[in-house]
Amino acid sequence: MGTHAGFILWFTGLSGAGKSTLSERLVAEFTSRGYRVELLDGDEVRTHLSKGLSFSKEDRDTNVRRIGWVARVLARNGVIAITAAISPYREIRDEIRADVEKEGRAAFVEIFANAPVNALAERDVKGLYKRAIAGEIKHFTGVSDPYEAPLNPEIEALTSVESITESVDRVLNYLAEKNLIDAGA
Ligand code: ADX
Repeated sequence: MGTHAGFILWFTGLSGAGKSTLSERLVAEFTSRGYRVELLDGDEVRTHLSKGLSFSKEDRDTNVRRIGWVARVLARNGVIAITAAISPYREIRDEIRADVEKEGRAAFVEIFANAPVNALAERDVKGLYKRAIAGEIKHFTGVSDPYEAPLNPEIEALTSVESITESVDRVLNYLAEKNLIDAGA
């Protein structure tokens, strides 16, 4: 392989909605098929590229724009760039999409990891929802800070009701249908 076209798989959704889980599964799948792939995970980006940024709107926008820039330069060089940040603001996601599409060297595929906040708060893997609901974390996305769902995502994964495999298969089927990856395993 090595000469396939790059594209961006842009995950968006609340904390705990499955962005990282689905991303990691897709990385494994693409790697096993011989594709070059890179994952930009929100939590990891915030320890390196965006270290020191807060969760204010301004800093989130900066964080998300940085992720968008890195994803774009990777994808235009034939890498599958997967991003997994909440990226709560529609305007910024659409701005990145427009930049990618204007450049015309990679596709932008938005995946909405959609799970209701009450399901996420119940599972509360990181214990953050409990603290946010108690008022201990200000500006927590979905509790005390906005989340703007995509209006027209290429793919929607209903992660509280469907299995990881179902969501991953839907992504792979979409990509094969659009000829972004080869069909089959
Ligand atoms: S984004 O809004 O800038 O895209 P990002 O994906 O990088 O967010 O970081 C989200 C992660 O930071 C969450 O999964 C959670 O673990 C942690 N976090 C800490 N504070 C907040 C907050 N106020 N809102 C959302 N997530 C937070």
